[in-house]
Amino acid sequence: MNKFLFLLFFLSIVSSQSLIAGNKVPQLGKDPINKVISAMTLEEKAQLLVGRGQNNISNKDYIVSGAAGMTISIPRLGIPSTVESDGPAGLRIDPRRKEDSKTYYCTGFPIATLLSSTWNTDVVEEVGAAMGNEVLEYGCDVLLAPGMNIHRNPLCGRNFEYYSEDPLLTGKIAAAMVNGVQSQGVGTSIKHFAANNQETFRMQNSSNISQRALRELYLKGFEIAVKESHPWTIMSSYNKINGAYTQEDYSLLTSLLREDWGYKGIVMTDWTGLRNTKAQVHAGNDLMMPGKSDQVKEIILAVKSGKLSISDVDRNVKRMLEFIMKTPRFKKYNYTNKPDLKAHAFITRKSADEGIILLKNDDNTLPLKTESGDIALFGVGSYNFLAGGTGSGDVNKAYVINMYQGLKNAGFELQPKLNSFYEKYIEAENVQIKELNGKKAWWQVFMPEEAKIIPEYIKNRAKDSEVAVITFFRSSGEGHDRHKTEGDFLLTKKERDILENVTKSFHAVNKKVIVVLNIGGVIETASWKNIPDAIILAWQPGQEGGNSVADIIKGNVNPSGKLTMTFPVRYSDVPSSKNFPSDYQGEKFNTDKKDIGYTDYDEGLWIGYRYFNTFDKSVSYPFGYGLSYTTFDYAAGAKIKKSGKSYTVAVKITNTGKVAGKEVAELYISAPKGKLEKPAMELKAFTKTKLLQPGESEIVTMTFNLHDLASFDESINSWITDNGKYKVSIGSSVQDVRQTIFFDVKNVYKEKMKAKI
Ligand code: BGC
Repeated sequence: MNKFLFLLFFLSIVSSQSLIAGNKVPQLGKDPINKVISAMTLEEKAQLLVGRGQNNISNKDYIVSGAAGMTISIPRLGIPSTVESDGPAGLRIDPRRKEDSKTYYCTGFPIATLLSSTWNTDVVEEVGAAMGNEVLEYGCDVLLAPGMNIHRNPLCGRNFEYYSEDPLLTGKIAAAMVNGVQSQGVGTSIKHFAANNQETFRMQNSSNISQRALRELYLKGFEIAVKESHPWTIMSSYNKINGAYTQEDYSLLTSLLREDWGYKGIVMTDWTGLRNTKAQVHAGNDLMMPGKSDQVKEIILAVKSGKLSISDVDRNVKRMLEFIMKTPRFKKYNYTNKPDLKAHAFITRKSADEGIILLKNDDNTLPLKTESGDIALFGVGSYNFLAGGTGSGDVNKAYVINMYQGLKNAGFELQPKLNSFYEKYIEAENVQIKELNGKKAWWQVFMPEEAKIIPEYIKNRAKDSEVAVITFFRSSGEGHDRHKTEGDFLLTKKERDILENVTKSFHAVNKKVIVVLNIGGVIETASWKNIPDAIILAWQPGQEGGNSVADIIKGNVNPSGKLTMTFPVRYSDVPSSKNFPSDYQGEKFNTDKKDIGYTDYDEGLWIGYRYFNTFDKSVSYPFGYGLSYTTFDYAAGAKIKKSGKSYTVAVKITNTGKVAGKEVAELYISAPKGKLEKPAMELKAFTKTKLLQPGESEIVTMTFNLHDLASFDESINSWITDNGKYKVSIGSSVQDVRQTIFFDVKNVYKEKMKAKI
């Protein structure tokens, strides 16, 4: 074709596309959405439903380098691309770009498990707002967070990205996070919807769950987050539930989510690749991520051959357009690439301060005074301190403050011989990748303790220091579950030796030993917790971690974090341990193999404290537990007031100790005996006091409603709250109830659900 003909051809296409029946082509935002949809070709519609990821573009075409995904743009209709980026501990993008001397570091906030351990929705919302601000200022539109799957089993490799074994706490904390992030005018994607509770074969495994456990445990947190925070997007998980892929399940993604819960945003798939696209579209996935060109073709073919209805496509396209119109990219936000990282560092430190949990503090070992003398800082973990876990939930942060730096910053003197000993060891090892359980464990940052720390050496440190701090660390990440063996759930022989030797030597000269746990998930503590004098559960506390732990050690901050899960005595005490791939040795996928192809949630409702508390089984640390440097009194005479379907409980809490502190108050309900068997106590509300000065009181209130009290009766597909006498237990942990009151529900409350999963 010569140049002139080509120009004519080109102009005719442009003009036919930009003019419809003599009118201007509708523009998103200026014209009604339905008009924009009717101006779209089938190809454009199909493209809009498929992310602009794998195969479509190379990473260098990404507007924001290192983002997890994008949606396509259709310039002629005024539809821009949008950018979706991980993840739960902060924004995950590339910190450096080619031929660009600027840096794009993001704040590494504490892991989700630590954030929920604050039991403070205001703190979580503030963290969310800071994260959301980085999303906005780095030019992204959606944060692929929060993760909110239930801690069904302590060994799930991604528990660190999730909040709790309890759905109410999960839902409330997630809602606070979503509200915080979205306050910045960017979106969230609550994930992974749903029942994605193991990493082993997460893309194929079927979670086989009773309807009741599904509704009351695995969907409940999502229901709360949807109703209380309206996330812009939801990520449908990789796994199956009861044999059906969640991504292809109409009853889950449409009947339940949209019809029963009233969800209005979009659903995107987890980063799946090719599956049954038409089933996904029909089920209510509005966006296939990360997006393959074959999926576009499949949608077009399916519509043309009548296998997929155009009304399903149009329905999803409409939701996509509504979503896009909310984004900063659509609003042409002029992002700076310069979020206030200093201010956010302060926020991450403050949040970690509030979620770190004091597990043990015999004879007021803590806090320590800076002038008392040198600290002997043991443990590779003290110097190789972990801010977070690995995988998509990892953040490219500019720095991590380790324990050594944190304690120094707080003004403590550290025994210099130990520091140089560990520095040399870490340098000699030079790698953080070690063989664990006979396999290359690339997802686990693991460095064994140095065997050369011989008792004689430790004895000398007991002489020249005043107190010992030992850090044990554990890492885990996406794609792999943890192991129940030494080096993971259990301490290694060397770790135990160090703990015993240090304690023996320090106790011999009347000095104390403090253990710091820098972990992302539950470990075994029952067999060794009697050895040291104090134990601090620091979790993986974000980039300012060392400073936060030092805030607690020095007493600048009085610990107020509490456990959001149970620490069992033994792994085998956990009911789900009978149905979890804790013995997985790398074998191939097999549909028919237990815990590989499918996982039976035989334990039903009996997870975490629901089990241990109801059946009176001993635990190492109970749900809701955490110590303080002060004491709190819950005054007798707590009051309950009914208003419509809601109940509000008020109780007076007084700081009866010598230092200022905050108290988490937990409200559990015991239901009367009815048709369905129920856990002895279930968390139905919680709150945290303000910082109470010694002697100061606060009347805190906690609210729940009739729907919150309901159990799911599968036989009639309904939520039911029986009538009868209910007990309210208000306490400091599930095992430390301080006040009980009763109230009557006069009439049975029933709510029928449309969806059957
Ligand atoms: C993870 C998601 C993540 C996505 C994008 C997936 O493999 O499961 O949590 O948001 O990748 O990085």
